[in-house]
Amino acid sequence: MVVSTPEVVWHDLECGSYRADQPLWRELADRAAVDGPPARVLDVGAGTGRVALDLALAGHRVTALDVDAGLLEALRDRAADMNIDTVCADARTFELDHDDFDLCLVPMQTVQLLGGPGERAAFLKRAGAHLRPGGLLALAIVTAVEPFDCADGDVGPAPERVHLDGALYVSRPTRVCVLAESILIERERLIYRDRDRAGAGHSQGRDPIEPQAERDVIELQRLDAARLEQEAFSAGLHPESTRTLSATGDHVGGTVVMLRA
Ligand SMILES: C[S@@+](CC[C@H](N)C(=O)[O-])C[C@H]1O[C@@H](n2cnc3c(N)ncnc32)[C@H](O)[C@@H]1O
Repeated sequence: MVVSTPEVVWHDLECGSYRADQPLWRELADRAAVDGPPARVLDVGAGTGRVALDLALAGHRVTALDVDAGLLEALRDRAADMNIDTVCADARTFELDHDDFDLCLVPMQTVQLLGGPGERAAFLKRAGAHLRPGGLLALAIVTAVEPFDCADGDVGPAPERVHLDGALYVSRPTRVCVLAESILIERERLIYRDRDRAGAGHSQGRDPIEPQAERDVIELQRLDAARLEQEAFSAGLHPESTRTLSATGDHVGGTVVMLRA
């Protein structure tokens, strides 16, 4: 059965259409295994499986780790008989049966969601402990964002929308605020139920329909490649190189920091 809780719908709407990083994860996975593909891949912060499913489809053996059990349930539904294990755990404290992953990847600036330097160090040690000697840790980070605030009259990015199971879901970025240590990203999330819309359309003089509304705020720690490399070195990992992810119409560009165990 396909799971589409509001939480899953928002996750898919806000992350699911991003494609700019996928060729890089595929390239890294294809090169990661000592004796050639398939590689054993650990996807940290896997969500509903945007990256994990793509790599499993390419034949790799993927373990998808996320702290959110609801998102992993949706991933399992989608994985069907693909080669994906799911683990519900915190990236800062996880302990798995395998410590021989060829590749650990952390897409979409998830490392910046983990907290400050102490939390990042905890994660970097956990990641290093689960890689085989010479295994690769690759983390996508965002370093530069353009602040805006729709409340001040700025025009933000276009909303993303999807119609599903009798409701229209609309997610609109409303504010990006750069603070000394972090970046706040705010979104307005609206759900218009079809039954309400139909009722409003048929009865003249009724108030316009009120969608179910919520404000979502995420906080990303500010980080750059040099600082992450330094933190990783302290955690026993060896900086290798960085790659660039181009900006798309909907997503800012980023940097992928690569480290060897
Ligand atoms: C921006 S989403 C990325 C989802 C997916 N990797 C993708 O690229 O589409 C960040 C994910 O990290 C997960 N996450 C946040 N904090 C976490 C933590 N401490 N441990 C494990 N996962 C975490 C969230 O639940 C969410 O699924």
